[in-house]
Amino acid sequence: MKIGVPKEIKIGETRVSMTPSLCRRCVSLGAKVLIQKSAGLSAGFTDSEYREAGAVLVSDAAKVWKSADLVLKVKEPLPSEYDLLQDGQALFTYLHLAAGPALAKILQRKNILGIAYETVEGADGSYPLLKPMSQIAGRLAIQVGAYFLQSQYGGSGVLLGGIPGTLPGHVVVVGAGNSGAHAVQMAAGMGARVTVLDLDTRKLELLDSEYRGRVVTLMSNPANLESCVADADLLIGAVLIPAAKAPTVVTNAMVSRMRPGSVIVDIAIDQGGCIESIRPTSHKEPVYKQHGVVHYAVPNMPALVGRTSTLGLTQATEPYVAMIVQRGVNAALAAHKGLAKGVNTRDGRITNEAVAKELGCA
Ligand SMILES: NC(=O)c1ccc[n+]([C@@H]2O[C@H](COP(=O)([O-])OP(=O)(O)OC[C@H]3O[C@@H](n4cnc5c(N)ncnc54)[C@H](O)[C@@H]3O)[C@@H](O)[C@H]2O)c1
Repeated sequence: MKIGVPKEIKIGETRVSMTPSLCRRCVSLGAKVLIQKSAGLSAGFTDSEYREAGAVLVSDAAKVWKSADLVLKVKEPLPSEYDLLQDGQALFTYLHLAAGPALAKILQRKNILGIAYETVEGADGSYPLLKPMSQIAGRLAIQVGAYFLQSQYGGSGVLLGGIPGTLPGHVVVVGAGNSGAHAVQMAAGMGARVTVLDLDTRKLELLDSEYRGRVVTLMSNPANLESCVADADLLIGAVLIPAAKAPTVVTNAMVSRMRPGSVIVDIAIDQGGCIESIRPTSHKEPVYKQHGVVHYAVPNMPALVGRTSTLGLTQATEPYVAMIVQRGVNAALAAHKGLAKGVNTRDGRITNEAVAKELGCA
């Protein structure tokens, strides 16, 4: 099997889908790895490390795509990559098709076997390939939010931890899953006042017992959201309905009642975002102001910490990639139900039910 690893081209992207260590493993299992030159540099991996691990270095992205049976990526293909996709090719990457109808059409037209990291399921129903990036995005959301709260960057000038004698900042996290729980952890660690809302009482119970009163847990309903959002210095959107477009949980009316210079970080932007006033931004221009509130909605936040993110992502993908190399893609999908849940497109069809429903092709 030939595995192609192109350099990521999304704005500000620094991750790579394969480390030299994973490359060595794939080569030892019999794969030929074609990696684009300098693909790993922004994550701290040099071309010579890949060469020593047995990869063939290729200068041109088109050559990587052309001869690969399986293209291993981090982010979804961008329009400039659409022509490079080869009919019938397998693609293993984040796809987020519910928020990307144009890409879904291309994958259908080219009969791509599109396996989305974000819908691969663990035995317990969890999403093991989404988890590490969500953990990173959750932790980063507080770091980024604290930065944009600073007066020089358009923020209200609130220090999240405060100092003795002043009120700490109020961080409100909507969604208590992987990203939300990690945002809560960082915010509490910085000494902020923290409120977290979810629909799932088990998640709230876990956080309640972990933080023993240091964090307020609330059911996510319009009344609770209205009062919390109005008082938030930093609002984090961290909801997910697997494979579906994110629901609008925080309305324009709620955002318009926030204090000027408060900050919103909508982590869920890759699934369309859960704040009504949100639209995607990029690492080049990460924020805009609406209703006097700073909005941050970068869909590839983990690229801010490319080294940690690459290591976190590839340690999660490695067992699946190894299985695909050992058995071949189709046999691996037949043998592993959780991996098969990752298949979003196949033979010109959208095969994931939630994605198909979202795109109106169910
Ligand atoms: N922007 C980025 O760079 C980046 C990086 C990683 C992950 N993400 C995205 O972050 C989002 C969250 O991922 P996750 O792994 O934390 O998901 P998760 O499934 O672990 O958690 C989502 C939580 O949202 C809750 N929820 C659903 N509807 C809700 C509502 N109406 N109100 C409150 N809570 C609600 C669920 O009960 C669940 O606890 C996803 O869209 C994911 O793709 C974005």
